[in-house]
Amino acid sequence: MGQNILAPSILAADCARLGEEIATIKAEGAGYVHVDVMDGVFVPSLSFGIPVVTSIRKVTDLKLDVHLMIIHPLAYIKNFADAGADSITFHLESEDDPELVIEEIRKAGCRVGISIKPGTPVEQVYPYLDKVDMLLIMTVEPGFGGQPYIKTSSIRIATAKNYIRTEGLNVDIEVDGGMTEEVTRTAIELGANVIVAGSAIFHGDVADNCRRYMAILNSTGPGEVL
Ligand code: DX5
Ligand code: ZN
Repeated sequence: MGQNILAPSILAADCARLGEEIATIKAEGAGYVHVDVMDGVFVPSLSFGIPVVTSIRKVTDLKLDVHLMIIHPLAYIKNFADAGADSITFHLESEDDPELVIEEIRKAGCRVGISIKPGTPVEQVYPYLDKVDMLLIMTVEPGFGGQPYIKTSSIRIATAKNYIRTEGLNVDIEVDGGMTEEVTRTAIELGANVIVAGSAIFHGDVADNCRRYMAILNSTGPGEVL
């Protein structure tokens, strides 16, 4: 864990110009490319799959942060790793055994992320936190970009951070969904350090949007109150 990282979600990017969009976010200081994978079962929508990760891998050396919103992650870990994922995050609510998924991601040589939906009590993820590199707290119901931040997410971020700190764990907290600039500031103060933003980055002037987010990320740190 260390500095704050911007992870633009390409779900909101212009996919016809994906290479250019990724070059722009890299030039402006983004740390990860966040790739949302949806299967139409775990979430109602469909999005990207393995060939998209393969293609992106060829055009950037930014870390690829793959977010699997799929019911059976175990079957696809190796494929995503081979395609060039650096980090693979799966959902605690998927149907596979979390221990096995974690093991498989490690075996594939990727960083391990575990995610919880807004309705899942934070405490349910505690048994796995000493085995992962990142906790992704969904701040909207997964499935679509452009939704508003769920306000009760703030207490969840603070609760998770408090647990991670108390246990002396080295786990990043990523937040994803409705991360406006204002909410980003709050989330970082509460202990999040990886910020996913889709529509806020890719709608309008991408370079300018990144610059404003990077200014927030570089000037805001965790609060002292927790
Ligand atoms: C939602 C995805 C998000 C999404 C965020 O299921 O996991 O990564 O792209 O989009 P915004 O930032 O527009 O809420
Ligand atoms: Zn995501």
